[in-house]
Amino acid sequence: MTKGFPEGFLWGGATAANQCEGGVFEGNRGLANVDVIPHGEDRFPVMLGKMKMLECDQEHYYPSHEAIDFYHTYKEDIALFADMGFKCYRFSLAWSRIFPKGDELEPNEEGLKFYDAVIDECLKYGIEPLVTITHFDVPIHLIKTVGSWRSRKMVEYYERLCYVIFNRYKNKVKYWLTFNEINILMHLPFMGAGIVFEEGENQEAVKFQAAHHELVASARATQIAKEINPEFKIGCMLAAGNTYPNTPAPRDVWRSMEKDRENYFFIDVQSRGEYPNYAKKEFERKGIKLEMAPGDEELLKNNTVDFISFSYYSSRLTSADPEINAQTSGNVFGTLKNPYLDASEWGWQIDPLGLRITMNALYDRYQKPLFIVENGLGAVDNPDENGYVEDDYRIDYLREHIKAMKDAVNEDGVELMGYTSWGCIDLVSASTGEMKKRYGYIYVDKDNEGNGTLKRTKKKSFNWYKKVIGTNGEDL
Ligand code: BG6
Repeated sequence: MTKGFPEGFLWGGATAANQCEGGVFEGNRGLANVDVIPHGEDRFPVMLGKMKMLECDQEHYYPSHEAIDFYHTYKEDIALFADMGFKCYRFSLAWSRIFPKGDELEPNEEGLKFYDAVIDECLKYGIEPLVTITHFDVPIHLIKTVGSWRSRKMVEYYERLCYVIFNRYKNKVKYWLTFNEINILMHLPFMGAGIVFEEGENQEAVKFQAAHHELVASARATQIAKEINPEFKIGCMLAAGNTYPNTPAPRDVWRSMEKDRENYFFIDVQSRGEYPNYAKKEFERKGIKLEMAPGDEELLKNNTVDFISFSYYSSRLTSADPEINAQTSGNVFGTLKNPYLDASEWGWQIDPLGLRITMNALYDRYQKPLFIVENGLGAVDNPDENGYVEDDYRIDYLREHIKAMKDAVNEDGVELMGYTSWGCIDLVSASTGEMKKRYGYIYVDKDNEGNGTLKRTKKKSFNWYKKVIGTNGEDL
């Protein structure tokens, strides 16, 4: 019989600094990769690292600069989260607010004061902060001087950031994520990790070397965290979603396994503490030689994560036949259209059972508690004259996904720490830069071009989610 969720289950919502804060030129904040990614047709080439844009110009509109102005409205917004009954709020730190250039020896006190205030505001309402140390952002200065994560120097700068925040918040924050969707680096190298490619270089080799540096930095963060407060819980974060084979043909099944391994690769290192053999063999075949420093292997082995967090929006579908796979379209993770699934207005396929499948796959593989830190439906909302949105489509999506997660917990015995749905308040879309692609329980009056009053209005889903949290997931 299906029951609810364990006591202390961390219900809440999630945001990222660059998609909600704005205030890019305030508080001595420095510029980051995420601030030079424009809205419009140049967005993808820039995110891919194929079109170099390291400054802002007058021709483009940059959605992160104001975003939803959380930098000024955080009190009002967190009060709304508290009204919904949030137990947990996942947000990220803008690295360049704390270290504007990234390589300073001392942090920017004004930037830290902002996060002191955000964290204190959460604690005032009994909301547990879940802090993502970096959600895609890299200070521009580090991209210009060392080429971002392609350089080993980044580990040192990241460590500096970790020392500062772990010491400052050692008695206030318990849960930390080292890198948001670490596997995005392979798909959107500039957006995910500040990588810009040089003419003619082996892009895959660059990405894997950058991945190694991030994995080392993540292990160092875990090590530093435990020295500062052994009670800290450190998680990795994967853009998850299992890959189905297009047919029962064994070659399709094999291809789907390979596709999943592209993602597991990161978590295998962060959770099991070593490079998996399939990856070593692939490096060998491709002639990729990772540069490792002495001690890296022990560091990775001895500093694995405490829990596995992930985002889930959709399952994926793949074929071994290159011609069929060429029809792949849609989002960042190329996927075939699954005839058994409906899709969102942006073509993201809706698969609640896929969440249960993904949870079981991750739990079977790592045997560590899971945390769903992103899930939700990006949709166009049509508010009435008072700004009210009847978002039954969003409620349906979330209800079905929460049911699937309940089954994973109650029927399959998966350990789950919490659920923070994505974009609990409308914010800028990471992939498209639009405001129109909304995920929130709270409507924000702003359009794709940046017009609007920024007024916040509760949607229908606001009270629905409040009820879900209030009954610990019993009443969906
Ligand atoms: C995840 C990211 O990829 O998905 C978020 O961690 C992002 O930053 C979310 O916003 C939803 O994607 P999108 O493109 O609809 O904003």
